[in-house]
Amino acid sequence: MPERAPILAANWKMHKTVSETEEFLDEFLGNVPDGPEVVICPPFLALGAAVARCADGPVRVAAQNMHEEAEGAFTGEVSAPMLLELGVDGVILGHSERRQYFAESDEALARKVPVALDAGLEPILCVGENEAQRDSDETEGILTRQIEADLANVGEERLGDVVIAYEPIWAIGTGRTATPEQAQEAIALIRGLVEARSGEAAAAIRVLYGGSVKPDNAGELLSQPDVDGALVGGASLDPGDFAAIIDAAR
Ligand code: PGA
Repeated sequence: MPERAPILAANWKMHKTVSETEEFLDEFLGNVPDGPEVVICPPFLALGAAVARCADGPVRVAAQNMHEEAEGAFTGEVSAPMLLELGVDGVILGHSERRQYFAESDEALARKVPVALDAGLEPILCVGENEAQRDSDETEGILTRQIEADLANVGEERLGDVVIAYEPIWAIGTGRTATPEQAQEAIALIRGLVEARSGEAAAAIRVLYGGSVKPDNAGELLSQPDVDGALVGGASLDPGDFAAIIDAAR
Protein backbone atom coordinates (compact mmCIF):
# COMPACT_ATOMS: atom_id res chain seq x y z
CA MET A 1 0.00 0.00 0.00
CA PRO A 2 1.37 3.44 -0.85
CA GLU A 3 1.76 5.90 2.01
CA ARG A 4 -1.21 8.21 2.07
CA ALA A 5 -0.37 11.70 3.37
CA PRO A 6 -2.90 12.67 6.03
CA ILE A 7 -5.10 15.71 5.45
CA LEU A 8 -6.47 17.93 8.20
CA ALA A 9 -9.19 20.21 6.87
CA ALA A 10 -10.87 23.03 8.78
CA ASN A 11 -14.54 23.48 7.86
CA TRP A 12 -15.40 26.86 9.27
CA LYS A 13 -19.03 26.74 8.03
CA MET A 14 -20.64 30.22 8.43
CA HIS A 15 -18.01 31.47 10.87
CA LYS A 16 -15.40 34.24 10.61
CA THR A 17 -15.41 37.52 8.73
CA VAL A 18 -12.46 38.61 6.60
CA SER A 19 -10.73 40.29 9.54
CA GLU A 20 -11.39 37.31 11.82
CA THR A 21 -9.92 35.03 9.15
CA GLU A 22 -6.78 37.18 8.97
CA GLU A 23 -6.51 37.24 12.74
CA PHE A 24 -6.79 33.42 12.91
CA LEU A 25 -4.17 32.92 10.20
CA ASP A 26 -1.76 35.44 11.73
CA GLU A 27 -1.71 33.28 14.84
CA PHE A 28 -2.08 29.86 13.22
CA LEU A 29 0.42 30.03 10.34
CA GLY A 30 3.39 30.45 12.65
CA ASN A 31 2.41 27.33 14.59
CA VAL A 32 1.38 24.77 11.96
CA PRO A 33 2.93 21.40 12.82
CA ASP A 34 4.91 19.88 9.93
CA GLY A 35 3.76 16.71 8.24
CA PRO A 36 0.07 16.47 7.43
CA GLU A 37 -1.50 18.47 4.60
CA VAL A 38 -3.55 21.31 6.03
CA VAL A 39 -6.57 22.88 4.32
CA ILE A 40 -8.58 25.86 5.58
CA CYS A 41 -12.17 26.19 4.30
CA PRO A 42 -13.51 29.64 5.18
CA PRO A 43 -16.76 31.20 3.92
CA PHE A 44 -16.67 32.48 0.31
CA LEU A 45 -16.08 36.11 1.29
CA ALA A 46 -12.93 35.29 3.25
CA LEU A 47 -11.37 33.00 0.61
CA GLY A 48 -9.35 35.79 -1.03
CA ALA A 49 -7.90 36.93 2.28
CA ALA A 50 -7.07 33.36 3.24
CA VAL A 51 -5.33 32.71 -0.08
CA ALA A 52 -3.30 35.90 0.32
CA ARG A 53 -2.22 34.98 3.87
CA CYS A 54 -1.35 31.37 2.90
CA ALA A 55 0.38 32.28 -0.38
CA ASP A 56 3.96 31.36 0.48
CA GLY A 57 3.32 28.41 2.78
CA PRO A 58 2.10 24.83 2.67
CA VAL A 59 -1.42 25.53 3.98
CA ARG A 60 -4.04 25.29 1.26
CA VAL A 61 -7.43 26.97 0.97
CA ALA A 62 -10.70 25.36 -0.13
CA ALA A 63 -14.30 26.54 -0.52
CA GLN A 64 -17.33 24.97 1.17
CA ASN A 65 -19.52 24.59 -1.92
CA MET A 66 -19.58 25.24 -5.67
CA HIS A 67 -22.10 25.22 -8.51
CA GLU A 68 -21.42 22.80 -11.36
CA GLU A 69 -21.95 25.34 -14.15
CA ALA A 70 -19.14 27.76 -15.03
CA GLU A 71 -21.58 30.68 -15.21
CA GLY A 72 -25.26 31.39 -15.68
CA ALA A 73 -28.51 32.50 -14.08
CA PHE A 74 -27.98 30.87 -10.67
CA THR A 75 -28.47 33.64 -8.13
CA GLY A 76 -26.28 33.33 -5.08
CA GLU A 77 -24.04 30.61 -6.48
CA VAL A 78 -20.29 30.48 -7.11
CA SER A 79 -18.50 28.49 -9.85
CA ALA A 80 -15.20 26.64 -10.25
CA PRO A 81 -13.58 29.30 -12.50
CA MET A 82 -14.42 31.97 -9.89
CA LEU A 83 -12.74 29.91 -7.15
CA LEU A 84 -9.73 29.17 -9.35
CA GLU A 85 -9.15 32.80 -10.16
CA LEU A 86 -8.94 33.52 -6.43
CA GLY A 87 -6.26 30.85 -6.02
CA VAL A 88 -8.45 28.36 -4.18
CA ASP A 89 -7.20 24.73 -4.25
CA GLY A 90 -10.23 22.65 -3.40
CA VAL A 91 -13.88 22.51 -2.45
CA ILE A 92 -16.02 20.67 0.08
CA LEU A 93 -18.96 19.06 -1.70
CA GLY A 94 -22.08 17.42 -0.27
CA HIS A 95 -21.66 18.41 3.37
CA SER A 96 -24.63 17.07 5.31
CA GLU A 97 -25.70 20.62 6.18
CA ARG A 98 -25.94 21.41 2.47
CA ARG A 99 -27.84 18.18 1.87
CA GLN A 100 -30.19 18.85 4.79
CA TYR A 101 -30.80 22.63 4.62
CA PHE A 102 -30.14 23.42 0.97
CA ALA A 103 -31.48 20.30 -0.74
CA GLU A 104 -28.12 19.26 -2.18
CA SER A 105 -28.85 16.04 -4.06
CA ASP A 106 -26.75 13.08 -5.13
CA GLU A 107 -27.62 14.01 -8.72
CA ALA A 108 -26.12 17.47 -8.29
CA LEU A 109 -23.06 15.98 -6.60
CA ALA A 110 -22.57 13.54 -9.45
CA ARG A 111 -22.23 16.62 -11.67
CA LYS A 112 -20.15 18.72 -9.26
CA VAL A 113 -17.39 16.21 -8.40
CA PRO A 114 -16.07 15.75 -11.97
CA VAL A 115 -16.39 19.48 -12.67
CA ALA A 116 -14.20 20.20 -9.64
CA LEU A 117 -11.63 17.59 -10.70
CA ASP A 118 -11.53 18.88 -14.29
CA ALA A 119 -11.04 22.42 -13.02
CA GLY A 120 -8.10 21.34 -10.86
CA LEU A 121 -9.95 21.77 -7.55
CA GLU A 122 -9.55 18.93 -5.06
CA PRO A 123 -13.05 17.81 -4.10
CA ILE A 124 -13.69 16.83 -0.47
CA LEU A 125 -16.89 14.80 -0.83
CA CYS A 126 -18.84 14.33 2.42
CA VAL A 127 -20.98 11.27 3.09
CA GLY A 128 -22.59 9.85 6.20
CA GLU A 129 -25.69 8.46 7.83
CA ASN A 130 -28.03 10.09 10.36
CA GLU A 131 -28.84 8.69 13.76
CA ALA A 132 -32.06 6.90 12.77
CA GLN A 133 -30.28 5.26 9.85
CA ARG A 134 -27.46 4.05 12.10
CA ASP A 135 -29.93 2.75 14.69
CA SER A 136 -31.78 0.77 12.03
CA ASP A 137 -28.56 -0.68 10.56
CA GLU A 138 -28.82 1.28 7.33
CA THR A 139 -25.32 2.79 7.50
CA GLU A 140 -23.83 0.45 4.91
CA GLY A 141 -26.72 1.01 2.49
CA ILE A 142 -26.60 4.79 2.86
CA LEU A 143 -22.83 5.00 2.35
CA THR A 144 -23.02 2.64 -0.62
CA ARG A 145 -25.77 4.67 -2.25
CA GLN A 146 -24.01 8.00 -1.69
CA ILE A 147 -20.58 6.83 -2.88
CA GLU A 148 -21.95 5.06 -5.95
CA ALA A 149 -24.19 7.97 -6.93
CA ASP A 150 -21.89 10.88 -6.14
CA LEU A 151 -18.85 9.36 -7.88
CA ALA A 152 -20.79 7.87 -10.80
CA ASN A 153 -19.30 10.31 -13.33
CA VAL A 154 -15.72 10.14 -12.10
CA GLY A 155 -13.54 7.89 -14.25
CA GLU A 156 -11.41 5.22 -12.58
CA GLU A 157 -8.24 7.12 -13.42
CA ARG A 158 -9.42 10.14 -11.38
CA LEU A 159 -11.10 8.34 -8.47
CA GLY A 160 -7.94 8.37 -6.34
CA ASP A 161 -7.78 12.18 -6.61
CA VAL A 162 -11.06 12.64 -4.75
CA VAL A 163 -10.94 13.13 -0.98
CA ILE A 164 -13.87 11.60 0.89
CA ALA A 165 -14.97 12.66 4.37
CA TYR A 166 -17.04 10.17 6.35
CA GLU A 167 -19.17 12.35 8.59
CA PRO A 168 -21.86 10.56 10.60
CA ILE A 169 -24.54 13.25 10.99
CA TRP A 170 -25.19 12.27 14.60
CA ALA A 171 -21.60 13.19 15.45
CA ILE A 172 -21.51 16.62 13.76
CA GLY A 173 -21.50 19.49 16.23
CA THR A 174 -22.95 17.24 18.93
CA GLY A 175 -19.83 16.45 20.92
CA ARG A 176 -20.71 12.81 20.32
CA THR A 177 -17.79 11.38 18.36
CA ALA A 178 -17.87 8.06 16.54
CA THR A 179 -15.69 5.55 18.33
CA PRO A 180 -12.38 4.84 16.58
CA GLU A 181 -13.83 1.40 15.72
CA GLN A 182 -16.98 2.90 14.17
CA ALA A 183 -14.90 5.37 12.15
CA GLN A 184 -12.52 2.64 10.98
CA GLU A 185 -15.37 0.30 10.04
CA ALA A 186 -17.25 2.90 7.98
CA ILE A 187 -14.10 4.20 6.29
CA ALA A 188 -12.92 0.69 5.44
CA LEU A 189 -16.34 0.11 3.89
CA ILE A 190 -15.96 3.29 1.81
CA ARG A 191 -12.49 2.21 0.69
CA GLY A 192 -13.97 -1.17 -0.25
CA LEU A 193 -16.58 0.56 -2.43
CA VAL A 194 -13.81 2.43 -4.24
CA GLU A 195 -11.85 -0.82 -4.54
CA ALA A 196 -14.77 -2.44 -6.33
CA ARG A 197 -14.05 0.05 -9.12
CA SER A 198 -10.27 0.36 -8.89
CA GLY A 199 -7.73 -1.22 -6.56
CA GLU A 200 -5.22 1.48 -7.38
CA ALA A 201 -7.68 4.25 -6.52
CA ALA A 202 -8.64 2.52 -3.27
CA ALA A 203 -5.00 2.42 -2.17
CA ALA A 204 -4.49 6.09 -3.04
CA ILE A 205 -7.74 7.77 -2.03
CA ARG A 206 -7.73 9.72 1.22
CA VAL A 207 -10.77 9.12 3.43
CA LEU A 208 -11.17 11.47 6.39
CA TYR A 209 -13.31 11.24 9.49
CA GLY A 210 -15.45 14.21 10.58
CA GLY A 211 -17.76 14.77 13.54
CA SER A 212 -16.76 16.37 16.86
CA VAL A 213 -13.02 15.86 16.34
CA LYS A 214 -11.21 17.59 19.22
CA PRO A 215 -7.59 17.73 20.40
CA ASP A 216 -8.27 15.02 23.00
CA ASN A 217 -9.90 12.45 20.68
CA ALA A 218 -8.01 13.14 17.44
CA GLY A 219 -5.02 10.88 18.17
CA GLU A 220 -7.12 7.76 18.66
CA LEU A 221 -9.33 8.40 15.62
CA LEU A 222 -6.40 9.24 13.36
CA SER A 223 -4.40 6.19 14.37
CA GLN A 224 -6.93 3.86 12.71
CA PRO A 225 -5.41 2.21 9.63
CA ASP A 226 -7.97 3.50 7.10
CA VAL A 227 -8.50 6.97 8.59
CA ASP A 228 -6.40 9.38 6.52
CA GLY A 229 -7.15 12.58 8.39
CA ALA A 230 -10.05 14.66 9.63
CA LEU A 231 -12.55 17.29 8.58
CA VAL A 232 -12.86 19.47 11.65
CA GLY A 233 -15.69 21.91 12.32
CA GLY A 234 -16.03 23.57 15.73
CA ALA A 235 -12.52 22.82 16.99
CA SER A 236 -10.93 24.30 13.86
CA LEU A 237 -12.17 27.79 14.76
CA ASP A 238 -9.51 28.08 17.42
CA PRO A 239 -5.93 28.21 16.07
CA GLY A 240 -4.47 26.42 19.11
CA ASP A 241 -7.04 23.61 19.06
CA PHE A 242 -6.67 23.07 15.32
CA ALA A 243 -2.86 23.01 15.62
CA ALA A 244 -3.19 20.44 18.43
CA ILE A 245 -5.36 18.24 16.20
CA ILE A 246 -2.80 18.48 13.38
CA ASP A 247 -0.10 17.55 15.86
CA ALA A 248 -2.09 14.46 16.87
CA ALA A 249 -2.08 13.29 13.25
CA ARG A 250 1.70 13.14 13.03
P1 PGA B 1 -17.80 19.35 13.99
O1 PGA B 1 -18.15 19.52 12.44
O2 PGA B 1 -16.33 19.07 14.09
O3 PGA B 1 -18.17 20.69 14.61
O4 PGA B 1 -18.63 18.23 14.51
C1 PGA B 1 -17.58 18.70 11.46
C2 PGA B 1 -18.15 19.01 10.11
O5 PGA B 1 -19.36 19.27 10.01
O6 PGA B 1 -17.43 19.01 9.08
